[in-house]
Amino acid sequence: MKNEQIGKATSRVDGRAKVTGEAKYAAEFNVPDLTYGFVVSSAIARGKIKSIDTSKALAVNGVLQVFTHENRPGYVWGDEKYQDKDSPPGSPFRPLYQSEIQFSMQPIALVVAETFELARYGASLVEVAYKQDAFDTNFEANIEKAYVPEKYKSTPPPDPRGKPEKAFADAALQIETEYTHPSEHHNPMEMHASVAVWEKDGKLTVYDKIQGVDNSQQYIANAFGMDKEEVRVISPFVGGAFGSGLRPQYQLFLAVLAARELKRSVKVMLTRQQMFSFGHRPKTTQRLAVGAAEDGKLEAIQHDAFAETSKFEDYSENVITWPGVLYKCDNMKLSHKLVGLDVYTPLDMRAPGGTTGIFALECTMDELAYKAGVDPVEFRLKNYSEKDQNQDKPFSSKELKECYRQGAEKFGWSKRNPEPRSMKEGHNLIGWGMAHGAWEATQKEASAKAVLSPDGKLTVSSATADIGTGTYTVMTQIAADTLGLPLQDVTFLLGDTSLPKSPLEGGSWTVSSVGSAVKAACDKVREKLFKLAQQVENSPLKDAKFEEVRFTDGKISLQQDASKAVTITAALKQNGGESIEEQVDSKPADKQDNYAPYTHAATFVEVKVDEDLGTVKVTRIVSAIAGGRVINPKTARSQILGGMVWGIGVALEEEAVMDNNLGRFMNHDLDKYHVPVNADVHDMEVIFVEEKDDIVNPLGAKGLGEIGIVSVAPAIVNAIFHATGKRVRELPVTLDKLL
Ligand code: MOS
Repeated sequence: MKNEQIGKATSRVDGRAKVTGEAKYAAEFNVPDLTYGFVVSSAIARGKIKSIDTSKALAVNGVLQVFTHENRPGYVWGDEKYQDKDSPPGSPFRPLYQSEIQFSMQPIALVVAETFELARYGASLVEVAYKQDAFDTNFEANIEKAYVPEKYKSTPPPDPRGKPEKAFADAALQIETEYTHPSEHHNPMEMHASVAVWEKDGKLTVYDKIQGVDNSQQYIANAFGMDKEEVRVISPFVGGAFGSGLRPQYQLFLAVLAARELKRSVKVMLTRQQMFSFGHRPKTTQRLAVGAAEDGKLEAIQHDAFAETSKFEDYSENVITWPGVLYKCDNMKLSHKLVGLDVYTPLDMRAPGGTTGIFALECTMDELAYKAGVDPVEFRLKNYSEKDQNQDKPFSSKELKECYRQGAEKFGWSKRNPEPRSMKEGHNLIGWGMAHGAWEATQKEASAKAVLSPDGKLTVSSATADIGTGTYTVMTQIAADTLGLPLQDVTFLLGDTSLPKSPLEGGSWTVSSVGSAVKAACDKVREKLFKLAQQVENSPLKDAKFEEVRFTDGKISLQQDASKAVTITAALKQNGGESIEEQVDSKPADKQDNYAPYTHAATFVEVKVDEDLGTVKVTRIVSAIAGGRVINPKTARSQILGGMVWGIGVALEEEAVMDNNLGRFMNHDLDKYHVPVNADVHDMEVIFVEEKDDIVNPLGAKGLGEIGIVSVAPAIVNAIFHATGKRVRELPVTLDKLL
C-alpha cells in the first residue's frame, strides 16, 4: 500500500516549528503584564531559618513582593493531599511550608518584580539567618545502615528462588563484585519553568515544563485547594526531560502562589545551578555474588543494591530485577535497600534503575565470562532466558539472539582477540566490549479523540507530552495510517489538560499507550466512514463488508478491486455537513497478563585508551534493538542514538560531586558537570531487528525511549577492560582511574 505511514522514516512534523523558533517552551509565553519571580536558595543543608529579612529587597523600586514561609497564606498546603502522580512513598517536600531546611539549595523565598533583573537583584538582598543542624550526606558512611523501605516505589524485590547461598558456595567459578554509580543530575537544554497566567475570574492558565499536564493540574489543585476546572495546564513543547519533568517541580508551586496572591501573571524559571537543587539519579552501590559451572553456565546470582534516598521520601527504582529478566538461573536472591541522606529525593532519570543495575550486572558477567574463558556473546547465549523468572512469565516476544547476531556481524566481533591489551595502535590501546540490556514494554490506560471534519482534515488529541522523543510525529503517522490520509491532512494535539487524559509521558510507554488510543479512536471513525460510504448514491461498496475494504490515499476501496472506491470526502457528505467525532478510552488487553513484555538490546563498543594519558575515546558503538514494530525508523533511530550518547556520559563523564562538609553538590553547572559534546561522539550505528509481537498492544510497538541507554555504559566499561586489563568498578571512568 503506497499510503502506509506506519514504518515509514518520517521527519518530525514539528521540526519546522522547532528550528524556526515558532515552537514555544514554558518560559516563552510572555503574556501581557507579566511579572518575574526569582528563587532564593538555602545556603545550608539542614536546620532552621531563624529569621528572614526581606526589607531591603522590598525597598527596591519594581520589586512587588517576597514570598517566604512567614507570609505563605494558611490555605496553602491545607488538605495534605499533596502527593503527585510520581511521588515515592513518604511526605513530599512542600516549598515555603515551614522554617525547616531539609536539603541544600532548598527554595526558601521567591522575589517577584516587574522585570527578571529586578527580581534577581532583589533576591541577592534577602538576608537569612540560619540555625544549622548536623546533617549527613555521606553515602559511603551510611551504607551499612541501609534499610528496607516499608513500601517500594519500584517493583519490590522478588522472593528468592532455589538455594542461592548453597549454589554459590558449591559453584566451580565464583565471582564477587562491588560496583558504584554516582549521583547524576538532569541537564536538559530547557531549564524548569512555569508561567502562571492570572485570568480575570481568578482562574489560572499555567504553562509548565512537565511530562504530563494532568500531574501539574492535580498538584496545584491539591496544594491550593482549588478545583481542577480552575486550573488549565498547557505544555506544547518540552526541551528535554527524561524524568525531570515527571514530578511538578517547585517553580510551579511558587509561580502559582505568586500569581494568586498578586493577582498578576508570574513567570519563574530556574537557573542552571538551581537545576541541581532537585531530584537526581541516586548514587547506588551494588554487590553481586555470581556462581557458575566450569563452562560458564550460571548456578547462582545474588544481587544487592544500596541506593541513596532523601530523609522524607523512599525513592526506589528497578535496579536488581534485571538478572531475573536477562539470565537463566535457578538460584537467585535480589535485594534493594535505601540509604537515607539529607538530600532532595532522587528522581527518575532515563531508564531509572536499568541504567544503574544493568551496568553492574553486565560488568560482573563480563568478569565471569573472562574467568570461564568464554566469549561474552557465547556466555550470554549459554545463559539465555526464555522467560522473566521474577514473574515466571514467558516474554511476549524476544529477538535478543538476533540482536547478538546482527550486532556482532556489523561490528566485526568475530575478529576480536579476547586477550586484554592485545590490540594496539600507536600509544592507543584498543578495546572491544559488549553488553546486553532490557527495558519494560508497558501499556497504560490512555484516551484519545479523533475529529474528522467535512473537508477531510483530521485532528487527533490526547493530553500526553512530547519531550523531544517524537510523540507529535508518530501519533500523526498512526492516525494517518489508520484512515489512509496523507500526513499533511492530520494534526495531533497534546500537552493541554482540556484534552483527553493520558498517562505521564515516561517509562517508554507513550507509543504503546497513547498510540493504541489514537488507533482505537481512528478505527471508530473508520467504521463510521465505511457506513457513510455505503450510503453514497450508487455506492460501489454497498454490498461490501468492512473487512473487505481498505483506507488508502483518501479513499475507501475494495481490497480486491481498487476501482471500486468512494472518496473520504464523498462519504463525509453523507454526514449532513457534520464532523465525525470519536473519543475512546483504551487499556491493555487481558491477554497481556500472562506475558512479560520487554524490549531488548545488544551493544558492541570500541574504545581507544591513551596509555600515557588515560583518556578514553569511544570510537564505535553498534546497538541492535529488538523493540517490536518500529513506527518511525527515523525518530526511533534518533532515540537510540540519544541513548548511546547519554550512555557515553554515564560511563565516562557524568557525576554530581557531593561535598560532605557542606552537604551540597558542588559542580552545579555545565562547566564542571560534564556531559558528552560532539567531540566525544564518533561512529554510532543502530540496527532494528525484526520482531513481531501481537500481545504487547494493538500496534505491536514496544516503545524505544529507554532501551537505547541501558547496555551502553557497561559495554564501554567492558571495552576499557579489554583495552587496558583494568577493571574499573566505579563510574564515571575518568582518566585518573586508568593511570
Ligand atoms: Mo522517563 S525516566 O520515565 O521520563
